[in-house]
Amino acid sequence: MELLAILEQKKNAIFLLGGLKELEYRGYDSAGIAVLKEGEITAFKATGKLTNLARKVENFHSEGFGVGIGHTRWATHGKPTEANAHPHWGEFSYIIHNGIIENYKEIKDELLKDGVKFLSQTDTEVAVHLFEKNVRELKDCFKAFEKTIASLQGAYAILLISKKAPDVIFFAKNAVPLLLGKSASGEVYFSSSDAPLIGLVQEVVYLEDGEYGWAKNQEITLLNNHVPQHLDFKTLTHDKLSAQKDGYRYFMEKEIYEQSLVVGETLMGRIKDNSIILDELSSLDLAHIDAIKICACGTSYHAALSACYMFERLAKIRCNVEIASEFRYKEPLLDTKTLFIVISQSGETADTLEALKMAKQSGMRTLAICNVDNSSIVRTADMTILTRAGIEKGVASTKAFATQVITLWLLTLYVGEHKKSMDALTLQSEIAALLRVPLILKVSETTHEKIRRLSKRYLHGHGFFFIGRDIFYPLALEGALKLKEISYLHAEGYPAGEMKHGPIALADSELFTIALMPKNLLYDKMKSNVEELSARDSTLLVISPEPFELADDFIKTKPHTHMMGEFFEMMLITQLLALEISIRLGNDVDMPRNLAKSVTVE
Ligand code: G6P
Repeated sequence: MELLAILEQKKNAIFLLGGLKELEYRGYDSAGIAVLKEGEITAFKATGKLTNLARKVENFHSEGFGVGIGHTRWATHGKPTEANAHPHWGEFSYIIHNGIIENYKEIKDELLKDGVKFLSQTDTEVAVHLFEKNVRELKDCFKAFEKTIASLQGAYAILLISKKAPDVIFFAKNAVPLLLGKSASGEVYFSSSDAPLIGLVQEVVYLEDGEYGWAKNQEITLLNNHVPQHLDFKTLTHDKLSAQKDGYRYFMEKEIYEQSLVVGETLMGRIKDNSIILDELSSLDLAHIDAIKICACGTSYHAALSACYMFERLAKIRCNVEIASEFRYKEPLLDTKTLFIVISQSGETADTLEALKMAKQSGMRTLAICNVDNSSIVRTADMTILTRAGIEKGVASTKAFATQVITLWLLTLYVGEHKKSMDALTLQSEIAALLRVPLILKVSETTHEKIRRLSKRYLHGHGFFFIGRDIFYPLALEGALKLKEISYLHAEGYPAGEMKHGPIALADSELFTIALMPKNLLYDKMKSNVEELSARDSTLLVISPEPFELADDFIKTKPHTHMMGEFFEMMLITQLLALEISIRLGNDVDMPRNLAKSVTVE
C-alpha cells in the first residue's frame, strides 16, 4: 500500500495520478484519490490499473484544488474491491493508510455501538470514524487527530483531510515509511517513498516512528507525544531507479532487508492473549480433519517442506508435501478428512492451481497461503491466509518465503491449539519465539560485510552442497535454490545424513559445502556429517553459533534458545551469500536468465 498527498498544489487531480504512477512499481490492486476544493471533497476509486482510475477522473474539473490525497492498495484486510480501496471516508473526512491497525476490531465494536455505518471491510476505515467521533466530542480537529492517533495500535502511515479543516493535511507515522517534502515555492508533499517526490522537492524529512502532525498554510507542525519536533531535512536523491530500490543495489537486496518489517506485518493482529487468531479459518471444522497435504512449487515447496516438520512435531497432525506438477499426474488418493493446502507467492502458478482444483473436485477442504489477494488460487480455494509480504520484484523469492514459513508456523500453532494437541506451555513458548523473528531478521551490517568479503572465495568450483538436518534440510534446499537461480553455479541441498549414500563421492576441495549447524537441533549428528566431508577435502563454510575447527570459513550466528530463531538467521545468511556471489559474478540479480517470476504455464 502506498500513499501520497499534496498541500497547496494549485494543479489538478491528474497531478496526483502522476504521483501514484511513480509508485506503481510497488504493486497494487486498486487505487483512489480525494481532493478538497472550495470546502468540498470529491473522491474517486477504481480496482485494477491506474488507467481505470484515470478514466473516472477524466471529466472532473479539479484545477486549483488545495489539498489532495492518493493511494494505491495491496490488499491485506478485505478483498481488493472498490469499496475497500482508499480513501475511506466518514461524514466530513477522508483518510488513506498504509500498514495494519492491530486493534481495529475493538475500535470498530465501539463505533458500531454508536451506530456508525461501515462501508468497507478494512481496518483503515475505523480510523476516520474514530477521528470524526473525537471531533464531535472535542470540537477541535487537531486535538481530535492527536487523540485518534494515540488510540491506534499497530503499523501505520496515515494521511487525513477534513472539511472541518479545509486547508490542512493531518499525518502520522509508526513502523511504516512516510516522508514529507517542501518545494521552493512552499508546497508540502507527503509520500510513502521518495520516488514520486523526485523533481518536485530538493529535500525531504524521513519521519520517525511515533511522529505525527499537520501541514497548514505551508507550515508544518511535527509532534511526538505532544512535544514539537525539529524538521530534519535531508537531500533527496535524483536517481529514480535507485529511489525505487530504496538505495539498495537490487530489488532482491531490498527485499532481504525488508523481511523484518513484512514478517511483523504477517504476525500483526494474529496473536492475542497467547492465542492464535486466524479469522480466515472460521469456517474450518478441525474436528473433521486428521491430516494435512500441501502442494506447491519452487520456493513455496520448500516452505511447505518446512511446515511439514512443524505440523507433525508441534500440532501432532500427519502431514505430507508434494510438488504440484508431480501430484497432478500421479492419480493421488485423496481423502476428505485431509486438509489440502496450497502455497503460492503469486497465486497464479499453473501446476499449483490445477492441483488445488483437483483437491476441490475430490471434496477436500482447501486452504491457500498466498501473497496476492484475488489471484486465481485465492479465488479458487475455500479459505485463504494472506502472507502480507507486499509485492516481490526479485525473481528469486526471499521475503515471500519468510512470510510463508511464518504463516505456516502460525497455522501449526492454530491447529495445535484447536485440536488440543499442543499444551499451553508449548504454545506460549512458541508464540514468544515467533514474536522474536522480526528482530532476528534485521540484517546486521557486520554479518553482511563478512559475507560480502568471503563470497569472493565461492565463485568457481564444481558445485555446492547445502546440508542440514530436520527443518534445516528444507532450508538447505532453499539456500541451494537461491544460489543456483542467481549465480548459475551448480548447487544442491541435501539432508546431511544422506551424504554417505552417494553425494559424498563428489567431495574434493573444489566442492563447497555450506553446513547449517544449529545448536538447538541435532548439533552432534551434523558435526559428524561435516567431519566426513572435511576428511574428503571438501571446502567447508559452516554457519553456526558454535565455532567449528575444521571449517575453512565460519559465519557465526547469534545464540538462540529456539531452533526457529536459528532457522531465520541462517535463512538470511544463505540469501545474502547467494546475492553477493551473484553480484560478484556480474549477473542480473533481479532477473536471472531463463526464469520467470510467475509460471502460468505447465
Ligand atoms: C517460479 C519462480 C519461483 C517460485 C515458483 C513458485 O518458478 O521463479 O521463485 O518459487 O515459481 O511460485 P509461486 O508464485 O507459486 O510461489
